[in-house]
Amino acid sequence: MTDTAASEGQSDRLAINIQDVSFYWPTGATVLNSCSLTIQRGEFCMLLGNNGSGKSTLLRLLAGLLPRQTGKLEASGPVGFVFQNPDHQLVMPTVGADVAFGLVKDRLSVKQVRQRVEEALSAVNLWNLQRRPIYALSGGQKQRVAIAGAIAQHCEILLLDEPTALLDPDSQIDLVEQVQALVKSRGLTALWVTHRLAELDYCDRAFLLEGGKVSDQGDPQRLKQKMTTSYLTPS
Ligand SMILES: Nc1ncnc2c1ncn2[C@@H]1O[C@H](COP(=O)(O)OP(=O)(O)OP(=O)(O)O)[C@@H](O)[C@H]1O
Ligand SMILES: [Mg+2]
Repeated sequence: MTDTAASEGQSDRLAINIQDVSFYWPTGATVLNSCSLTIQRGEFCMLLGNNGSGKSTLLRLLAGLLPRQTGKLEASGPVGFVFQNPDHQLVMPTVGADVAFGLVKDRLSVKQVRQRVEEALSAVNLWNLQRRPIYALSGGQKQRVAIAGAIAQHCEILLLDEPTALLDPDSQIDLVEQVQALVKSRGLTALWVTHRLAELDYCDRAFLLEGGKVSDQGDPQRLKQKMTTSYLTPS
């Protein structure tokens, strides 16, 4: 699909619609310069680009963690964010308490909270670790708890900013397979930032951010090939 999809009558199928978004920090140069991209519901997409190219800035704008300056940023449903370092995100002492924490604002009954937590932890294959202290989890398990938090809140769109950066190779693959399966089984949409080209094997479509905008997009294998022969190190 192209960035003109919205104008071709497919906008109701879009999960993410970013049009002509520009962003600058008061302290520095423009990071995003009329950046546009669209993602359909149920797609698993990856975002590539050099250090400092604006990937995290774009995700944070989309999640509402940064104030929008110019352009259109639309998400079709609730958005969940998974950070590179889960220790910046998990705030409660145990797995179950952390997943429940995100539901406080929803005014649910105790029974409803229990059901949501159990269902979300089952979705990421951690249902048996509900009482486990967060400190006693592996890095990959912590990232899955973060994803469970988003599922418990009924997020439809997952934004994942280099979620495997701190994981060993086996855990990296486990996590990307897990997100791929969740996208397929639950109809979620995911936008995953990565520098690891091996992860492109699991997504439907990829984008390259360069010069403040999407300079290339499409088949992940084509972009993988292009990146392998340019500036990113294959993993
Ligand atoms: N809080 C901030 N204040 C000022 N400038 C910032 C701030 N956060 C990021 N930047 C700058 O914005 C630019 C884009 O940063 P961003 O973190 O979005 O890049 P990135 O593509 O995610 O990089 P990386 O691959 O290293 O994570 C960089 O030049 C960065 O120094
Ligand atoms: Mg970043």
